[in-house]
Amino acid sequence: MSEKINALKAEISAATAKTQEELEGYRLKFISRKSVLGELFADMKNVAPEDRKAYGQAVNEVKQQAEEKFKELIAGLESSDAGSKSSAPIDLTLPPNVNLGTVHPLTYIHNRIVEIFQKIGFNVADGPEIEDDFHNFTALNFPENHPAREMQDTFFIESNPDIALRTHTSSVQIRVMENQKPPFRTLAPGRVFRNEAISARAHCFFHQVEGFFVDKNVGLVDLKQTLYYFAKELFGQDTKVRFRPSYFPFTEPSAEMDISCNICKGKGCNICKYSGWVEILGSGMIDPNVLENCGIDSEEYTGFAFGMGIERIAMLKFQVNDLRLYSENDVRFLNQFKHLS
Ligand code: DAH
Repeated sequence: MSEKINALKAEISAATAKTQEELEGYRLKFISRKSVLGELFADMKNVAPEDRKAYGQAVNEVKQQAEEKFKELIAGLESSDAGSKSSAPIDLTLPPNVNLGTVHPLTYIHNRIVEIFQKIGFNVADGPEIEDDFHNFTALNFPENHPAREMQDTFFIESNPDIALRTHTSSVQIRVMENQKPPFRTLAPGRVFRNEAISARAHCFFHQVEGFFVDKNVGLVDLKQTLYYFAKELFGQDTKVRFRPSYFPFTEPSAEMDISCNICKGKGCNICKYSGWVEILGSGMIDPNVLENCGIDSEEYTGFAFGMGIERIAMLKFQVNDLRLYSENDVRFLNQFKHLS
């Protein structure tokens, strides 16, 4: 009999339970009413009366050992469960946990501008960033050695002063008009370059959107109404606009357009320098010389043009006051635009 008990003790102390099923197996075998211990207790009646006391003690010891072991096995299983959470079965139907990029604020503004003009029939044209003097200056009515060329600090190619990095996207006006026939309703977004020291307010490269509209009988009223529509679409329907006379070699007359400050709604703040207005673009009626330079009869056709800086618009829209942030790719900055699409 004691042999049986010793074998049982050894079996209990060697028992393990790596799964709930194994634990349940242990419970059935050593703890439950129908366990082997139950059988041992039932055997009591077959033991000689003088040995019963010792037998009962021995069986009780085994019972205690079995119960303690059971607690140990439960605790062991719980802690290994907690530790194995990360190795839980993989759900292949879940979307992948990838950190998706965000739309760059300049891309967002670019897309919005294109979208707004596409709605009224504008198409999009592209032109080279490395430009010649003719397309960047001469055809746009910048006379040779005229101080107007110095309005824009140009990066020239040393070995060939005829070649430069374009200083504005107005060059695409020329590229399109010399190669196609009017009417034109075209938008030309792109990167431009200026020889400027980099600071919060200036950069050696930035982005512009040029637009031009050429047809028979196009007048200043068309320019004003088109740009008024654009400002309201981009900055909100309650936006007001005003035009101030200005000068550009390629337009006559020329005007800069201001919008009512979208930050303070015209009340006055440091963005609009307490004037209630912020400048957003340059514009004007295309100078007849520019049309003629592209082989377009300026008696038959007239047109208007406008140009704006994408960074400038983004700064107004997002109240970012340091231009450099747009090209530094700092994710702490970029992640703030997660809501855009
Ligand atoms: N090209 C000008 C610049 O870079 C912007 C501009 C002003 C474009 C007036 C135009 C315009 O088409 O009519 O400063």
